[in-house]
This record gives sequence, structure tokens and C-alpha cells, in this order.
Amino acid sequence: MKILCGTDIIEIERIKKAILEHGENFLEEIYTKKEIEYCNSKNNAKYQHFAARFAAKEAIFKAISSLVENKYKLSWKNAEIINDKNGKPNIKLIGINIENSSIDISISHCKEYAVAMCTLIKTN
Ligand SMILES: CC(C)(COP(=O)(O)OP(=O)(O)OC[C@H]1O[C@@H](n2cnc3c(N)ncnc32)[C@H](O)[C@@H]1OP(=O)(O)O)[C@@H](O)C(=O)NCCC(=O)NCCS
Repeated sequence: MKILCGTDIIEIERIKKAILEHGENFLEEIYTKKEIEYCNSKNNAKYQHFAARFAAKEAIFKAISSLVENKYKLSWKNAEIINDKNGKPNIKLIGINIENSSIDISISHCKEYAVAMCTLIKTN
């Protein structure tokens, strides 16, 4: 069994600036439709949630990059973060298959920063 971790921290202001400057182009490059809907539903707090998902995707990249053939082929939308009915975020990998593995993500954000931590367990 192998355990792989990835973590990331980001300044929320950086993501807010990118969204305000590049709008839809930035959002559509980084986030899936469901992620955009989720973050926009948070109204004034939306930048925290967008930043958290940016950090989550970086954390996932760090956890999985050694398991894919070419890490440079990974894109932002290879991973989608969807919250369940209790609010827990889950990862849906899109277009990547990591056999015999289980992956999880944890997210936190405050006024200035968002952090995410991804854990992947591969059984063989
Ligand atoms: C879920 C909870 C712990 C989040 O903590 P918080 O300090 O308010 O907020 P944070 O910024 O640290 O975390 C927010 C993230 O937590 C994650 N989260 C929410 N509910 C979750 C759950 N049930 N399980 C795991 N992660 C959860 C989400 O990813 C959320 O960010 P997102 O909406 O952008 O996806 C809190 O809202 C809550 O419900 N607390 C009541 C229960 C409690 O604190 N019990 C402690 C004693 S057991």
C-alpha cells in the first residue's frame, strides 16, 4: 500500500483579482460548471470558495502527479470538487483513472487564505 499526500495554501485576494480581471475566461479554464454554481451560491463569500477549490486542485495535483504518465498533461478540470449533503467536499476525477485507489480532500478558508489537503491511498 502507498499513501500520497498533497497540500496547498493560497491568498484569497489573488484569486479574487484573477476573477475580476479575467472573468469568465479564468473561471472556465479552472472550474467546472458545478463548481462555479456552488461558489456563486455563496454570494459575498464566493472568492473564499473559489480560492479553496483552486488550492484543492493544486493539492490533488501534488498527490497524484507521480502516478500519472505525464504530469504536464493534467489540467485544472481533471478534478471536480463536489460537496455532499453534509457539506463534505469530495473529488471526482475526470479523464484520469488511478487504479486501486481512494482519494479524499479537506478544505478550510478564512478571510485571507484558503488551504486544502488531499490524501490518496493506493492499494497496489
Ligand atoms: C463543517 C464545519 C466544521 C466547517 O468549519 P468552519 O470553521 O466553519 O469552516 P472552514 O473554512 O474551516 O471549512 C469550510 C470547509 O469545510 C468543509 N466542510 C463542510 N462541511 C464538512 C463536513 N461535514 N465534513 C468535512 N468537511 C466539511 C467544506 O469543504 C467547506 O468549504 P467549501 O464550502 O468551500 O467546500 C462547521 O461549519 C460546522 O458544521 N461546525 C459544527 C460542528 C462542529 O464544529 N463540531 C465540532 C465538535 S465535533
